[in-house]
Amino acid sequence: MRTIHIVGNWKANPKTLSDAKELARKVKEQSRKFSRVHVTLAAPTPYLLPIGEIIGRSERMTLAAQDCSSKEAGAHTGEVIAPMLKSVGVSEVIIGHSESRARGVSDGEINARLHQLYKYKLRPILCIGEEKRDLHGAYLQFLSTQLTSALKDIPKAAVKRLIVAYEPLWAIGEHAAVPDTPEGFHHTAIFIRKVLSHLCDAPSALKIPVLYGGSVNVDNASSFLCEGYADGLLVGRASLKAKDFLSIITNAEAVTTSL
Ligand code: PGA
Repeated sequence: MRTIHIVGNWKANPKTLSDAKELARKVKEQSRKFSRVHVTLAAPTPYLLPIGEIIGRSERMTLAAQDCSSKEAGAHTGEVIAPMLKSVGVSEVIIGHSESRARGVSDGEINARLHQLYKYKLRPILCIGEEKRDLHGAYLQFLSTQLTSALKDIPKAAVKRLIVAYEPLWAIGEHAAVPDTPEGFHHTAIFIRKVLSHLCDAPSALKIPVLYGGSVNVDNASSFLCEGYADGLLVGRASLKAKDFLSIITNAEAVTTSL
């Protein structure tokens, strides 16, 4: 039976700590009902510690950060480094999100950040995704380059602990034209696993969770899991409404029992 990972990427939301706590509490209250779905809340940095306290020790729920510095401790004003995240209870870190890449974070920097995450035993949720999809498949080469450059010099044993989130840029956020289709995601995920098999080994590549992200909502979430065979979902806007996020989780539980 596969585990489905549902990650709520809160981005720069909500505006206050009390709203963030209320959202986390609502999800946590229902977490007793999750038996097969693994839920991760990716909260903004100032909220990590209090949200981690609400999550507590749980096998089914974890805390993620939304990014991490490639630096070690020192004179780096404004940087949040991997051991800090580890010490406040973070277990996963989103890395290479397109909104972070758009701020100028290069492939080389993403690779350096990944090295830090592995060094401090934090599990990366590596985001990749093309800006445009072309009919000739050039976007696949783009995805392959994003993966291989991010994972440069990462030992094969470490690659096995990766989570990949495929998020085509054209499908993310309120200005997105459309989400990907489950079939489109499925084809791309097969390609991603093929690239991963060269970076670790084929049996391990099959076990690396490949999530879909980009305009996931209550109506389309299950189809990405059922028809798209996604190992999980990276949910932005729909993770900010407890009711919607909990419906997505409940539907994912139902999907795992039907597999
Ligand atoms: P969205 O964001 O669900 O609001 O499209 C997804 C993401 O960027 O992770």
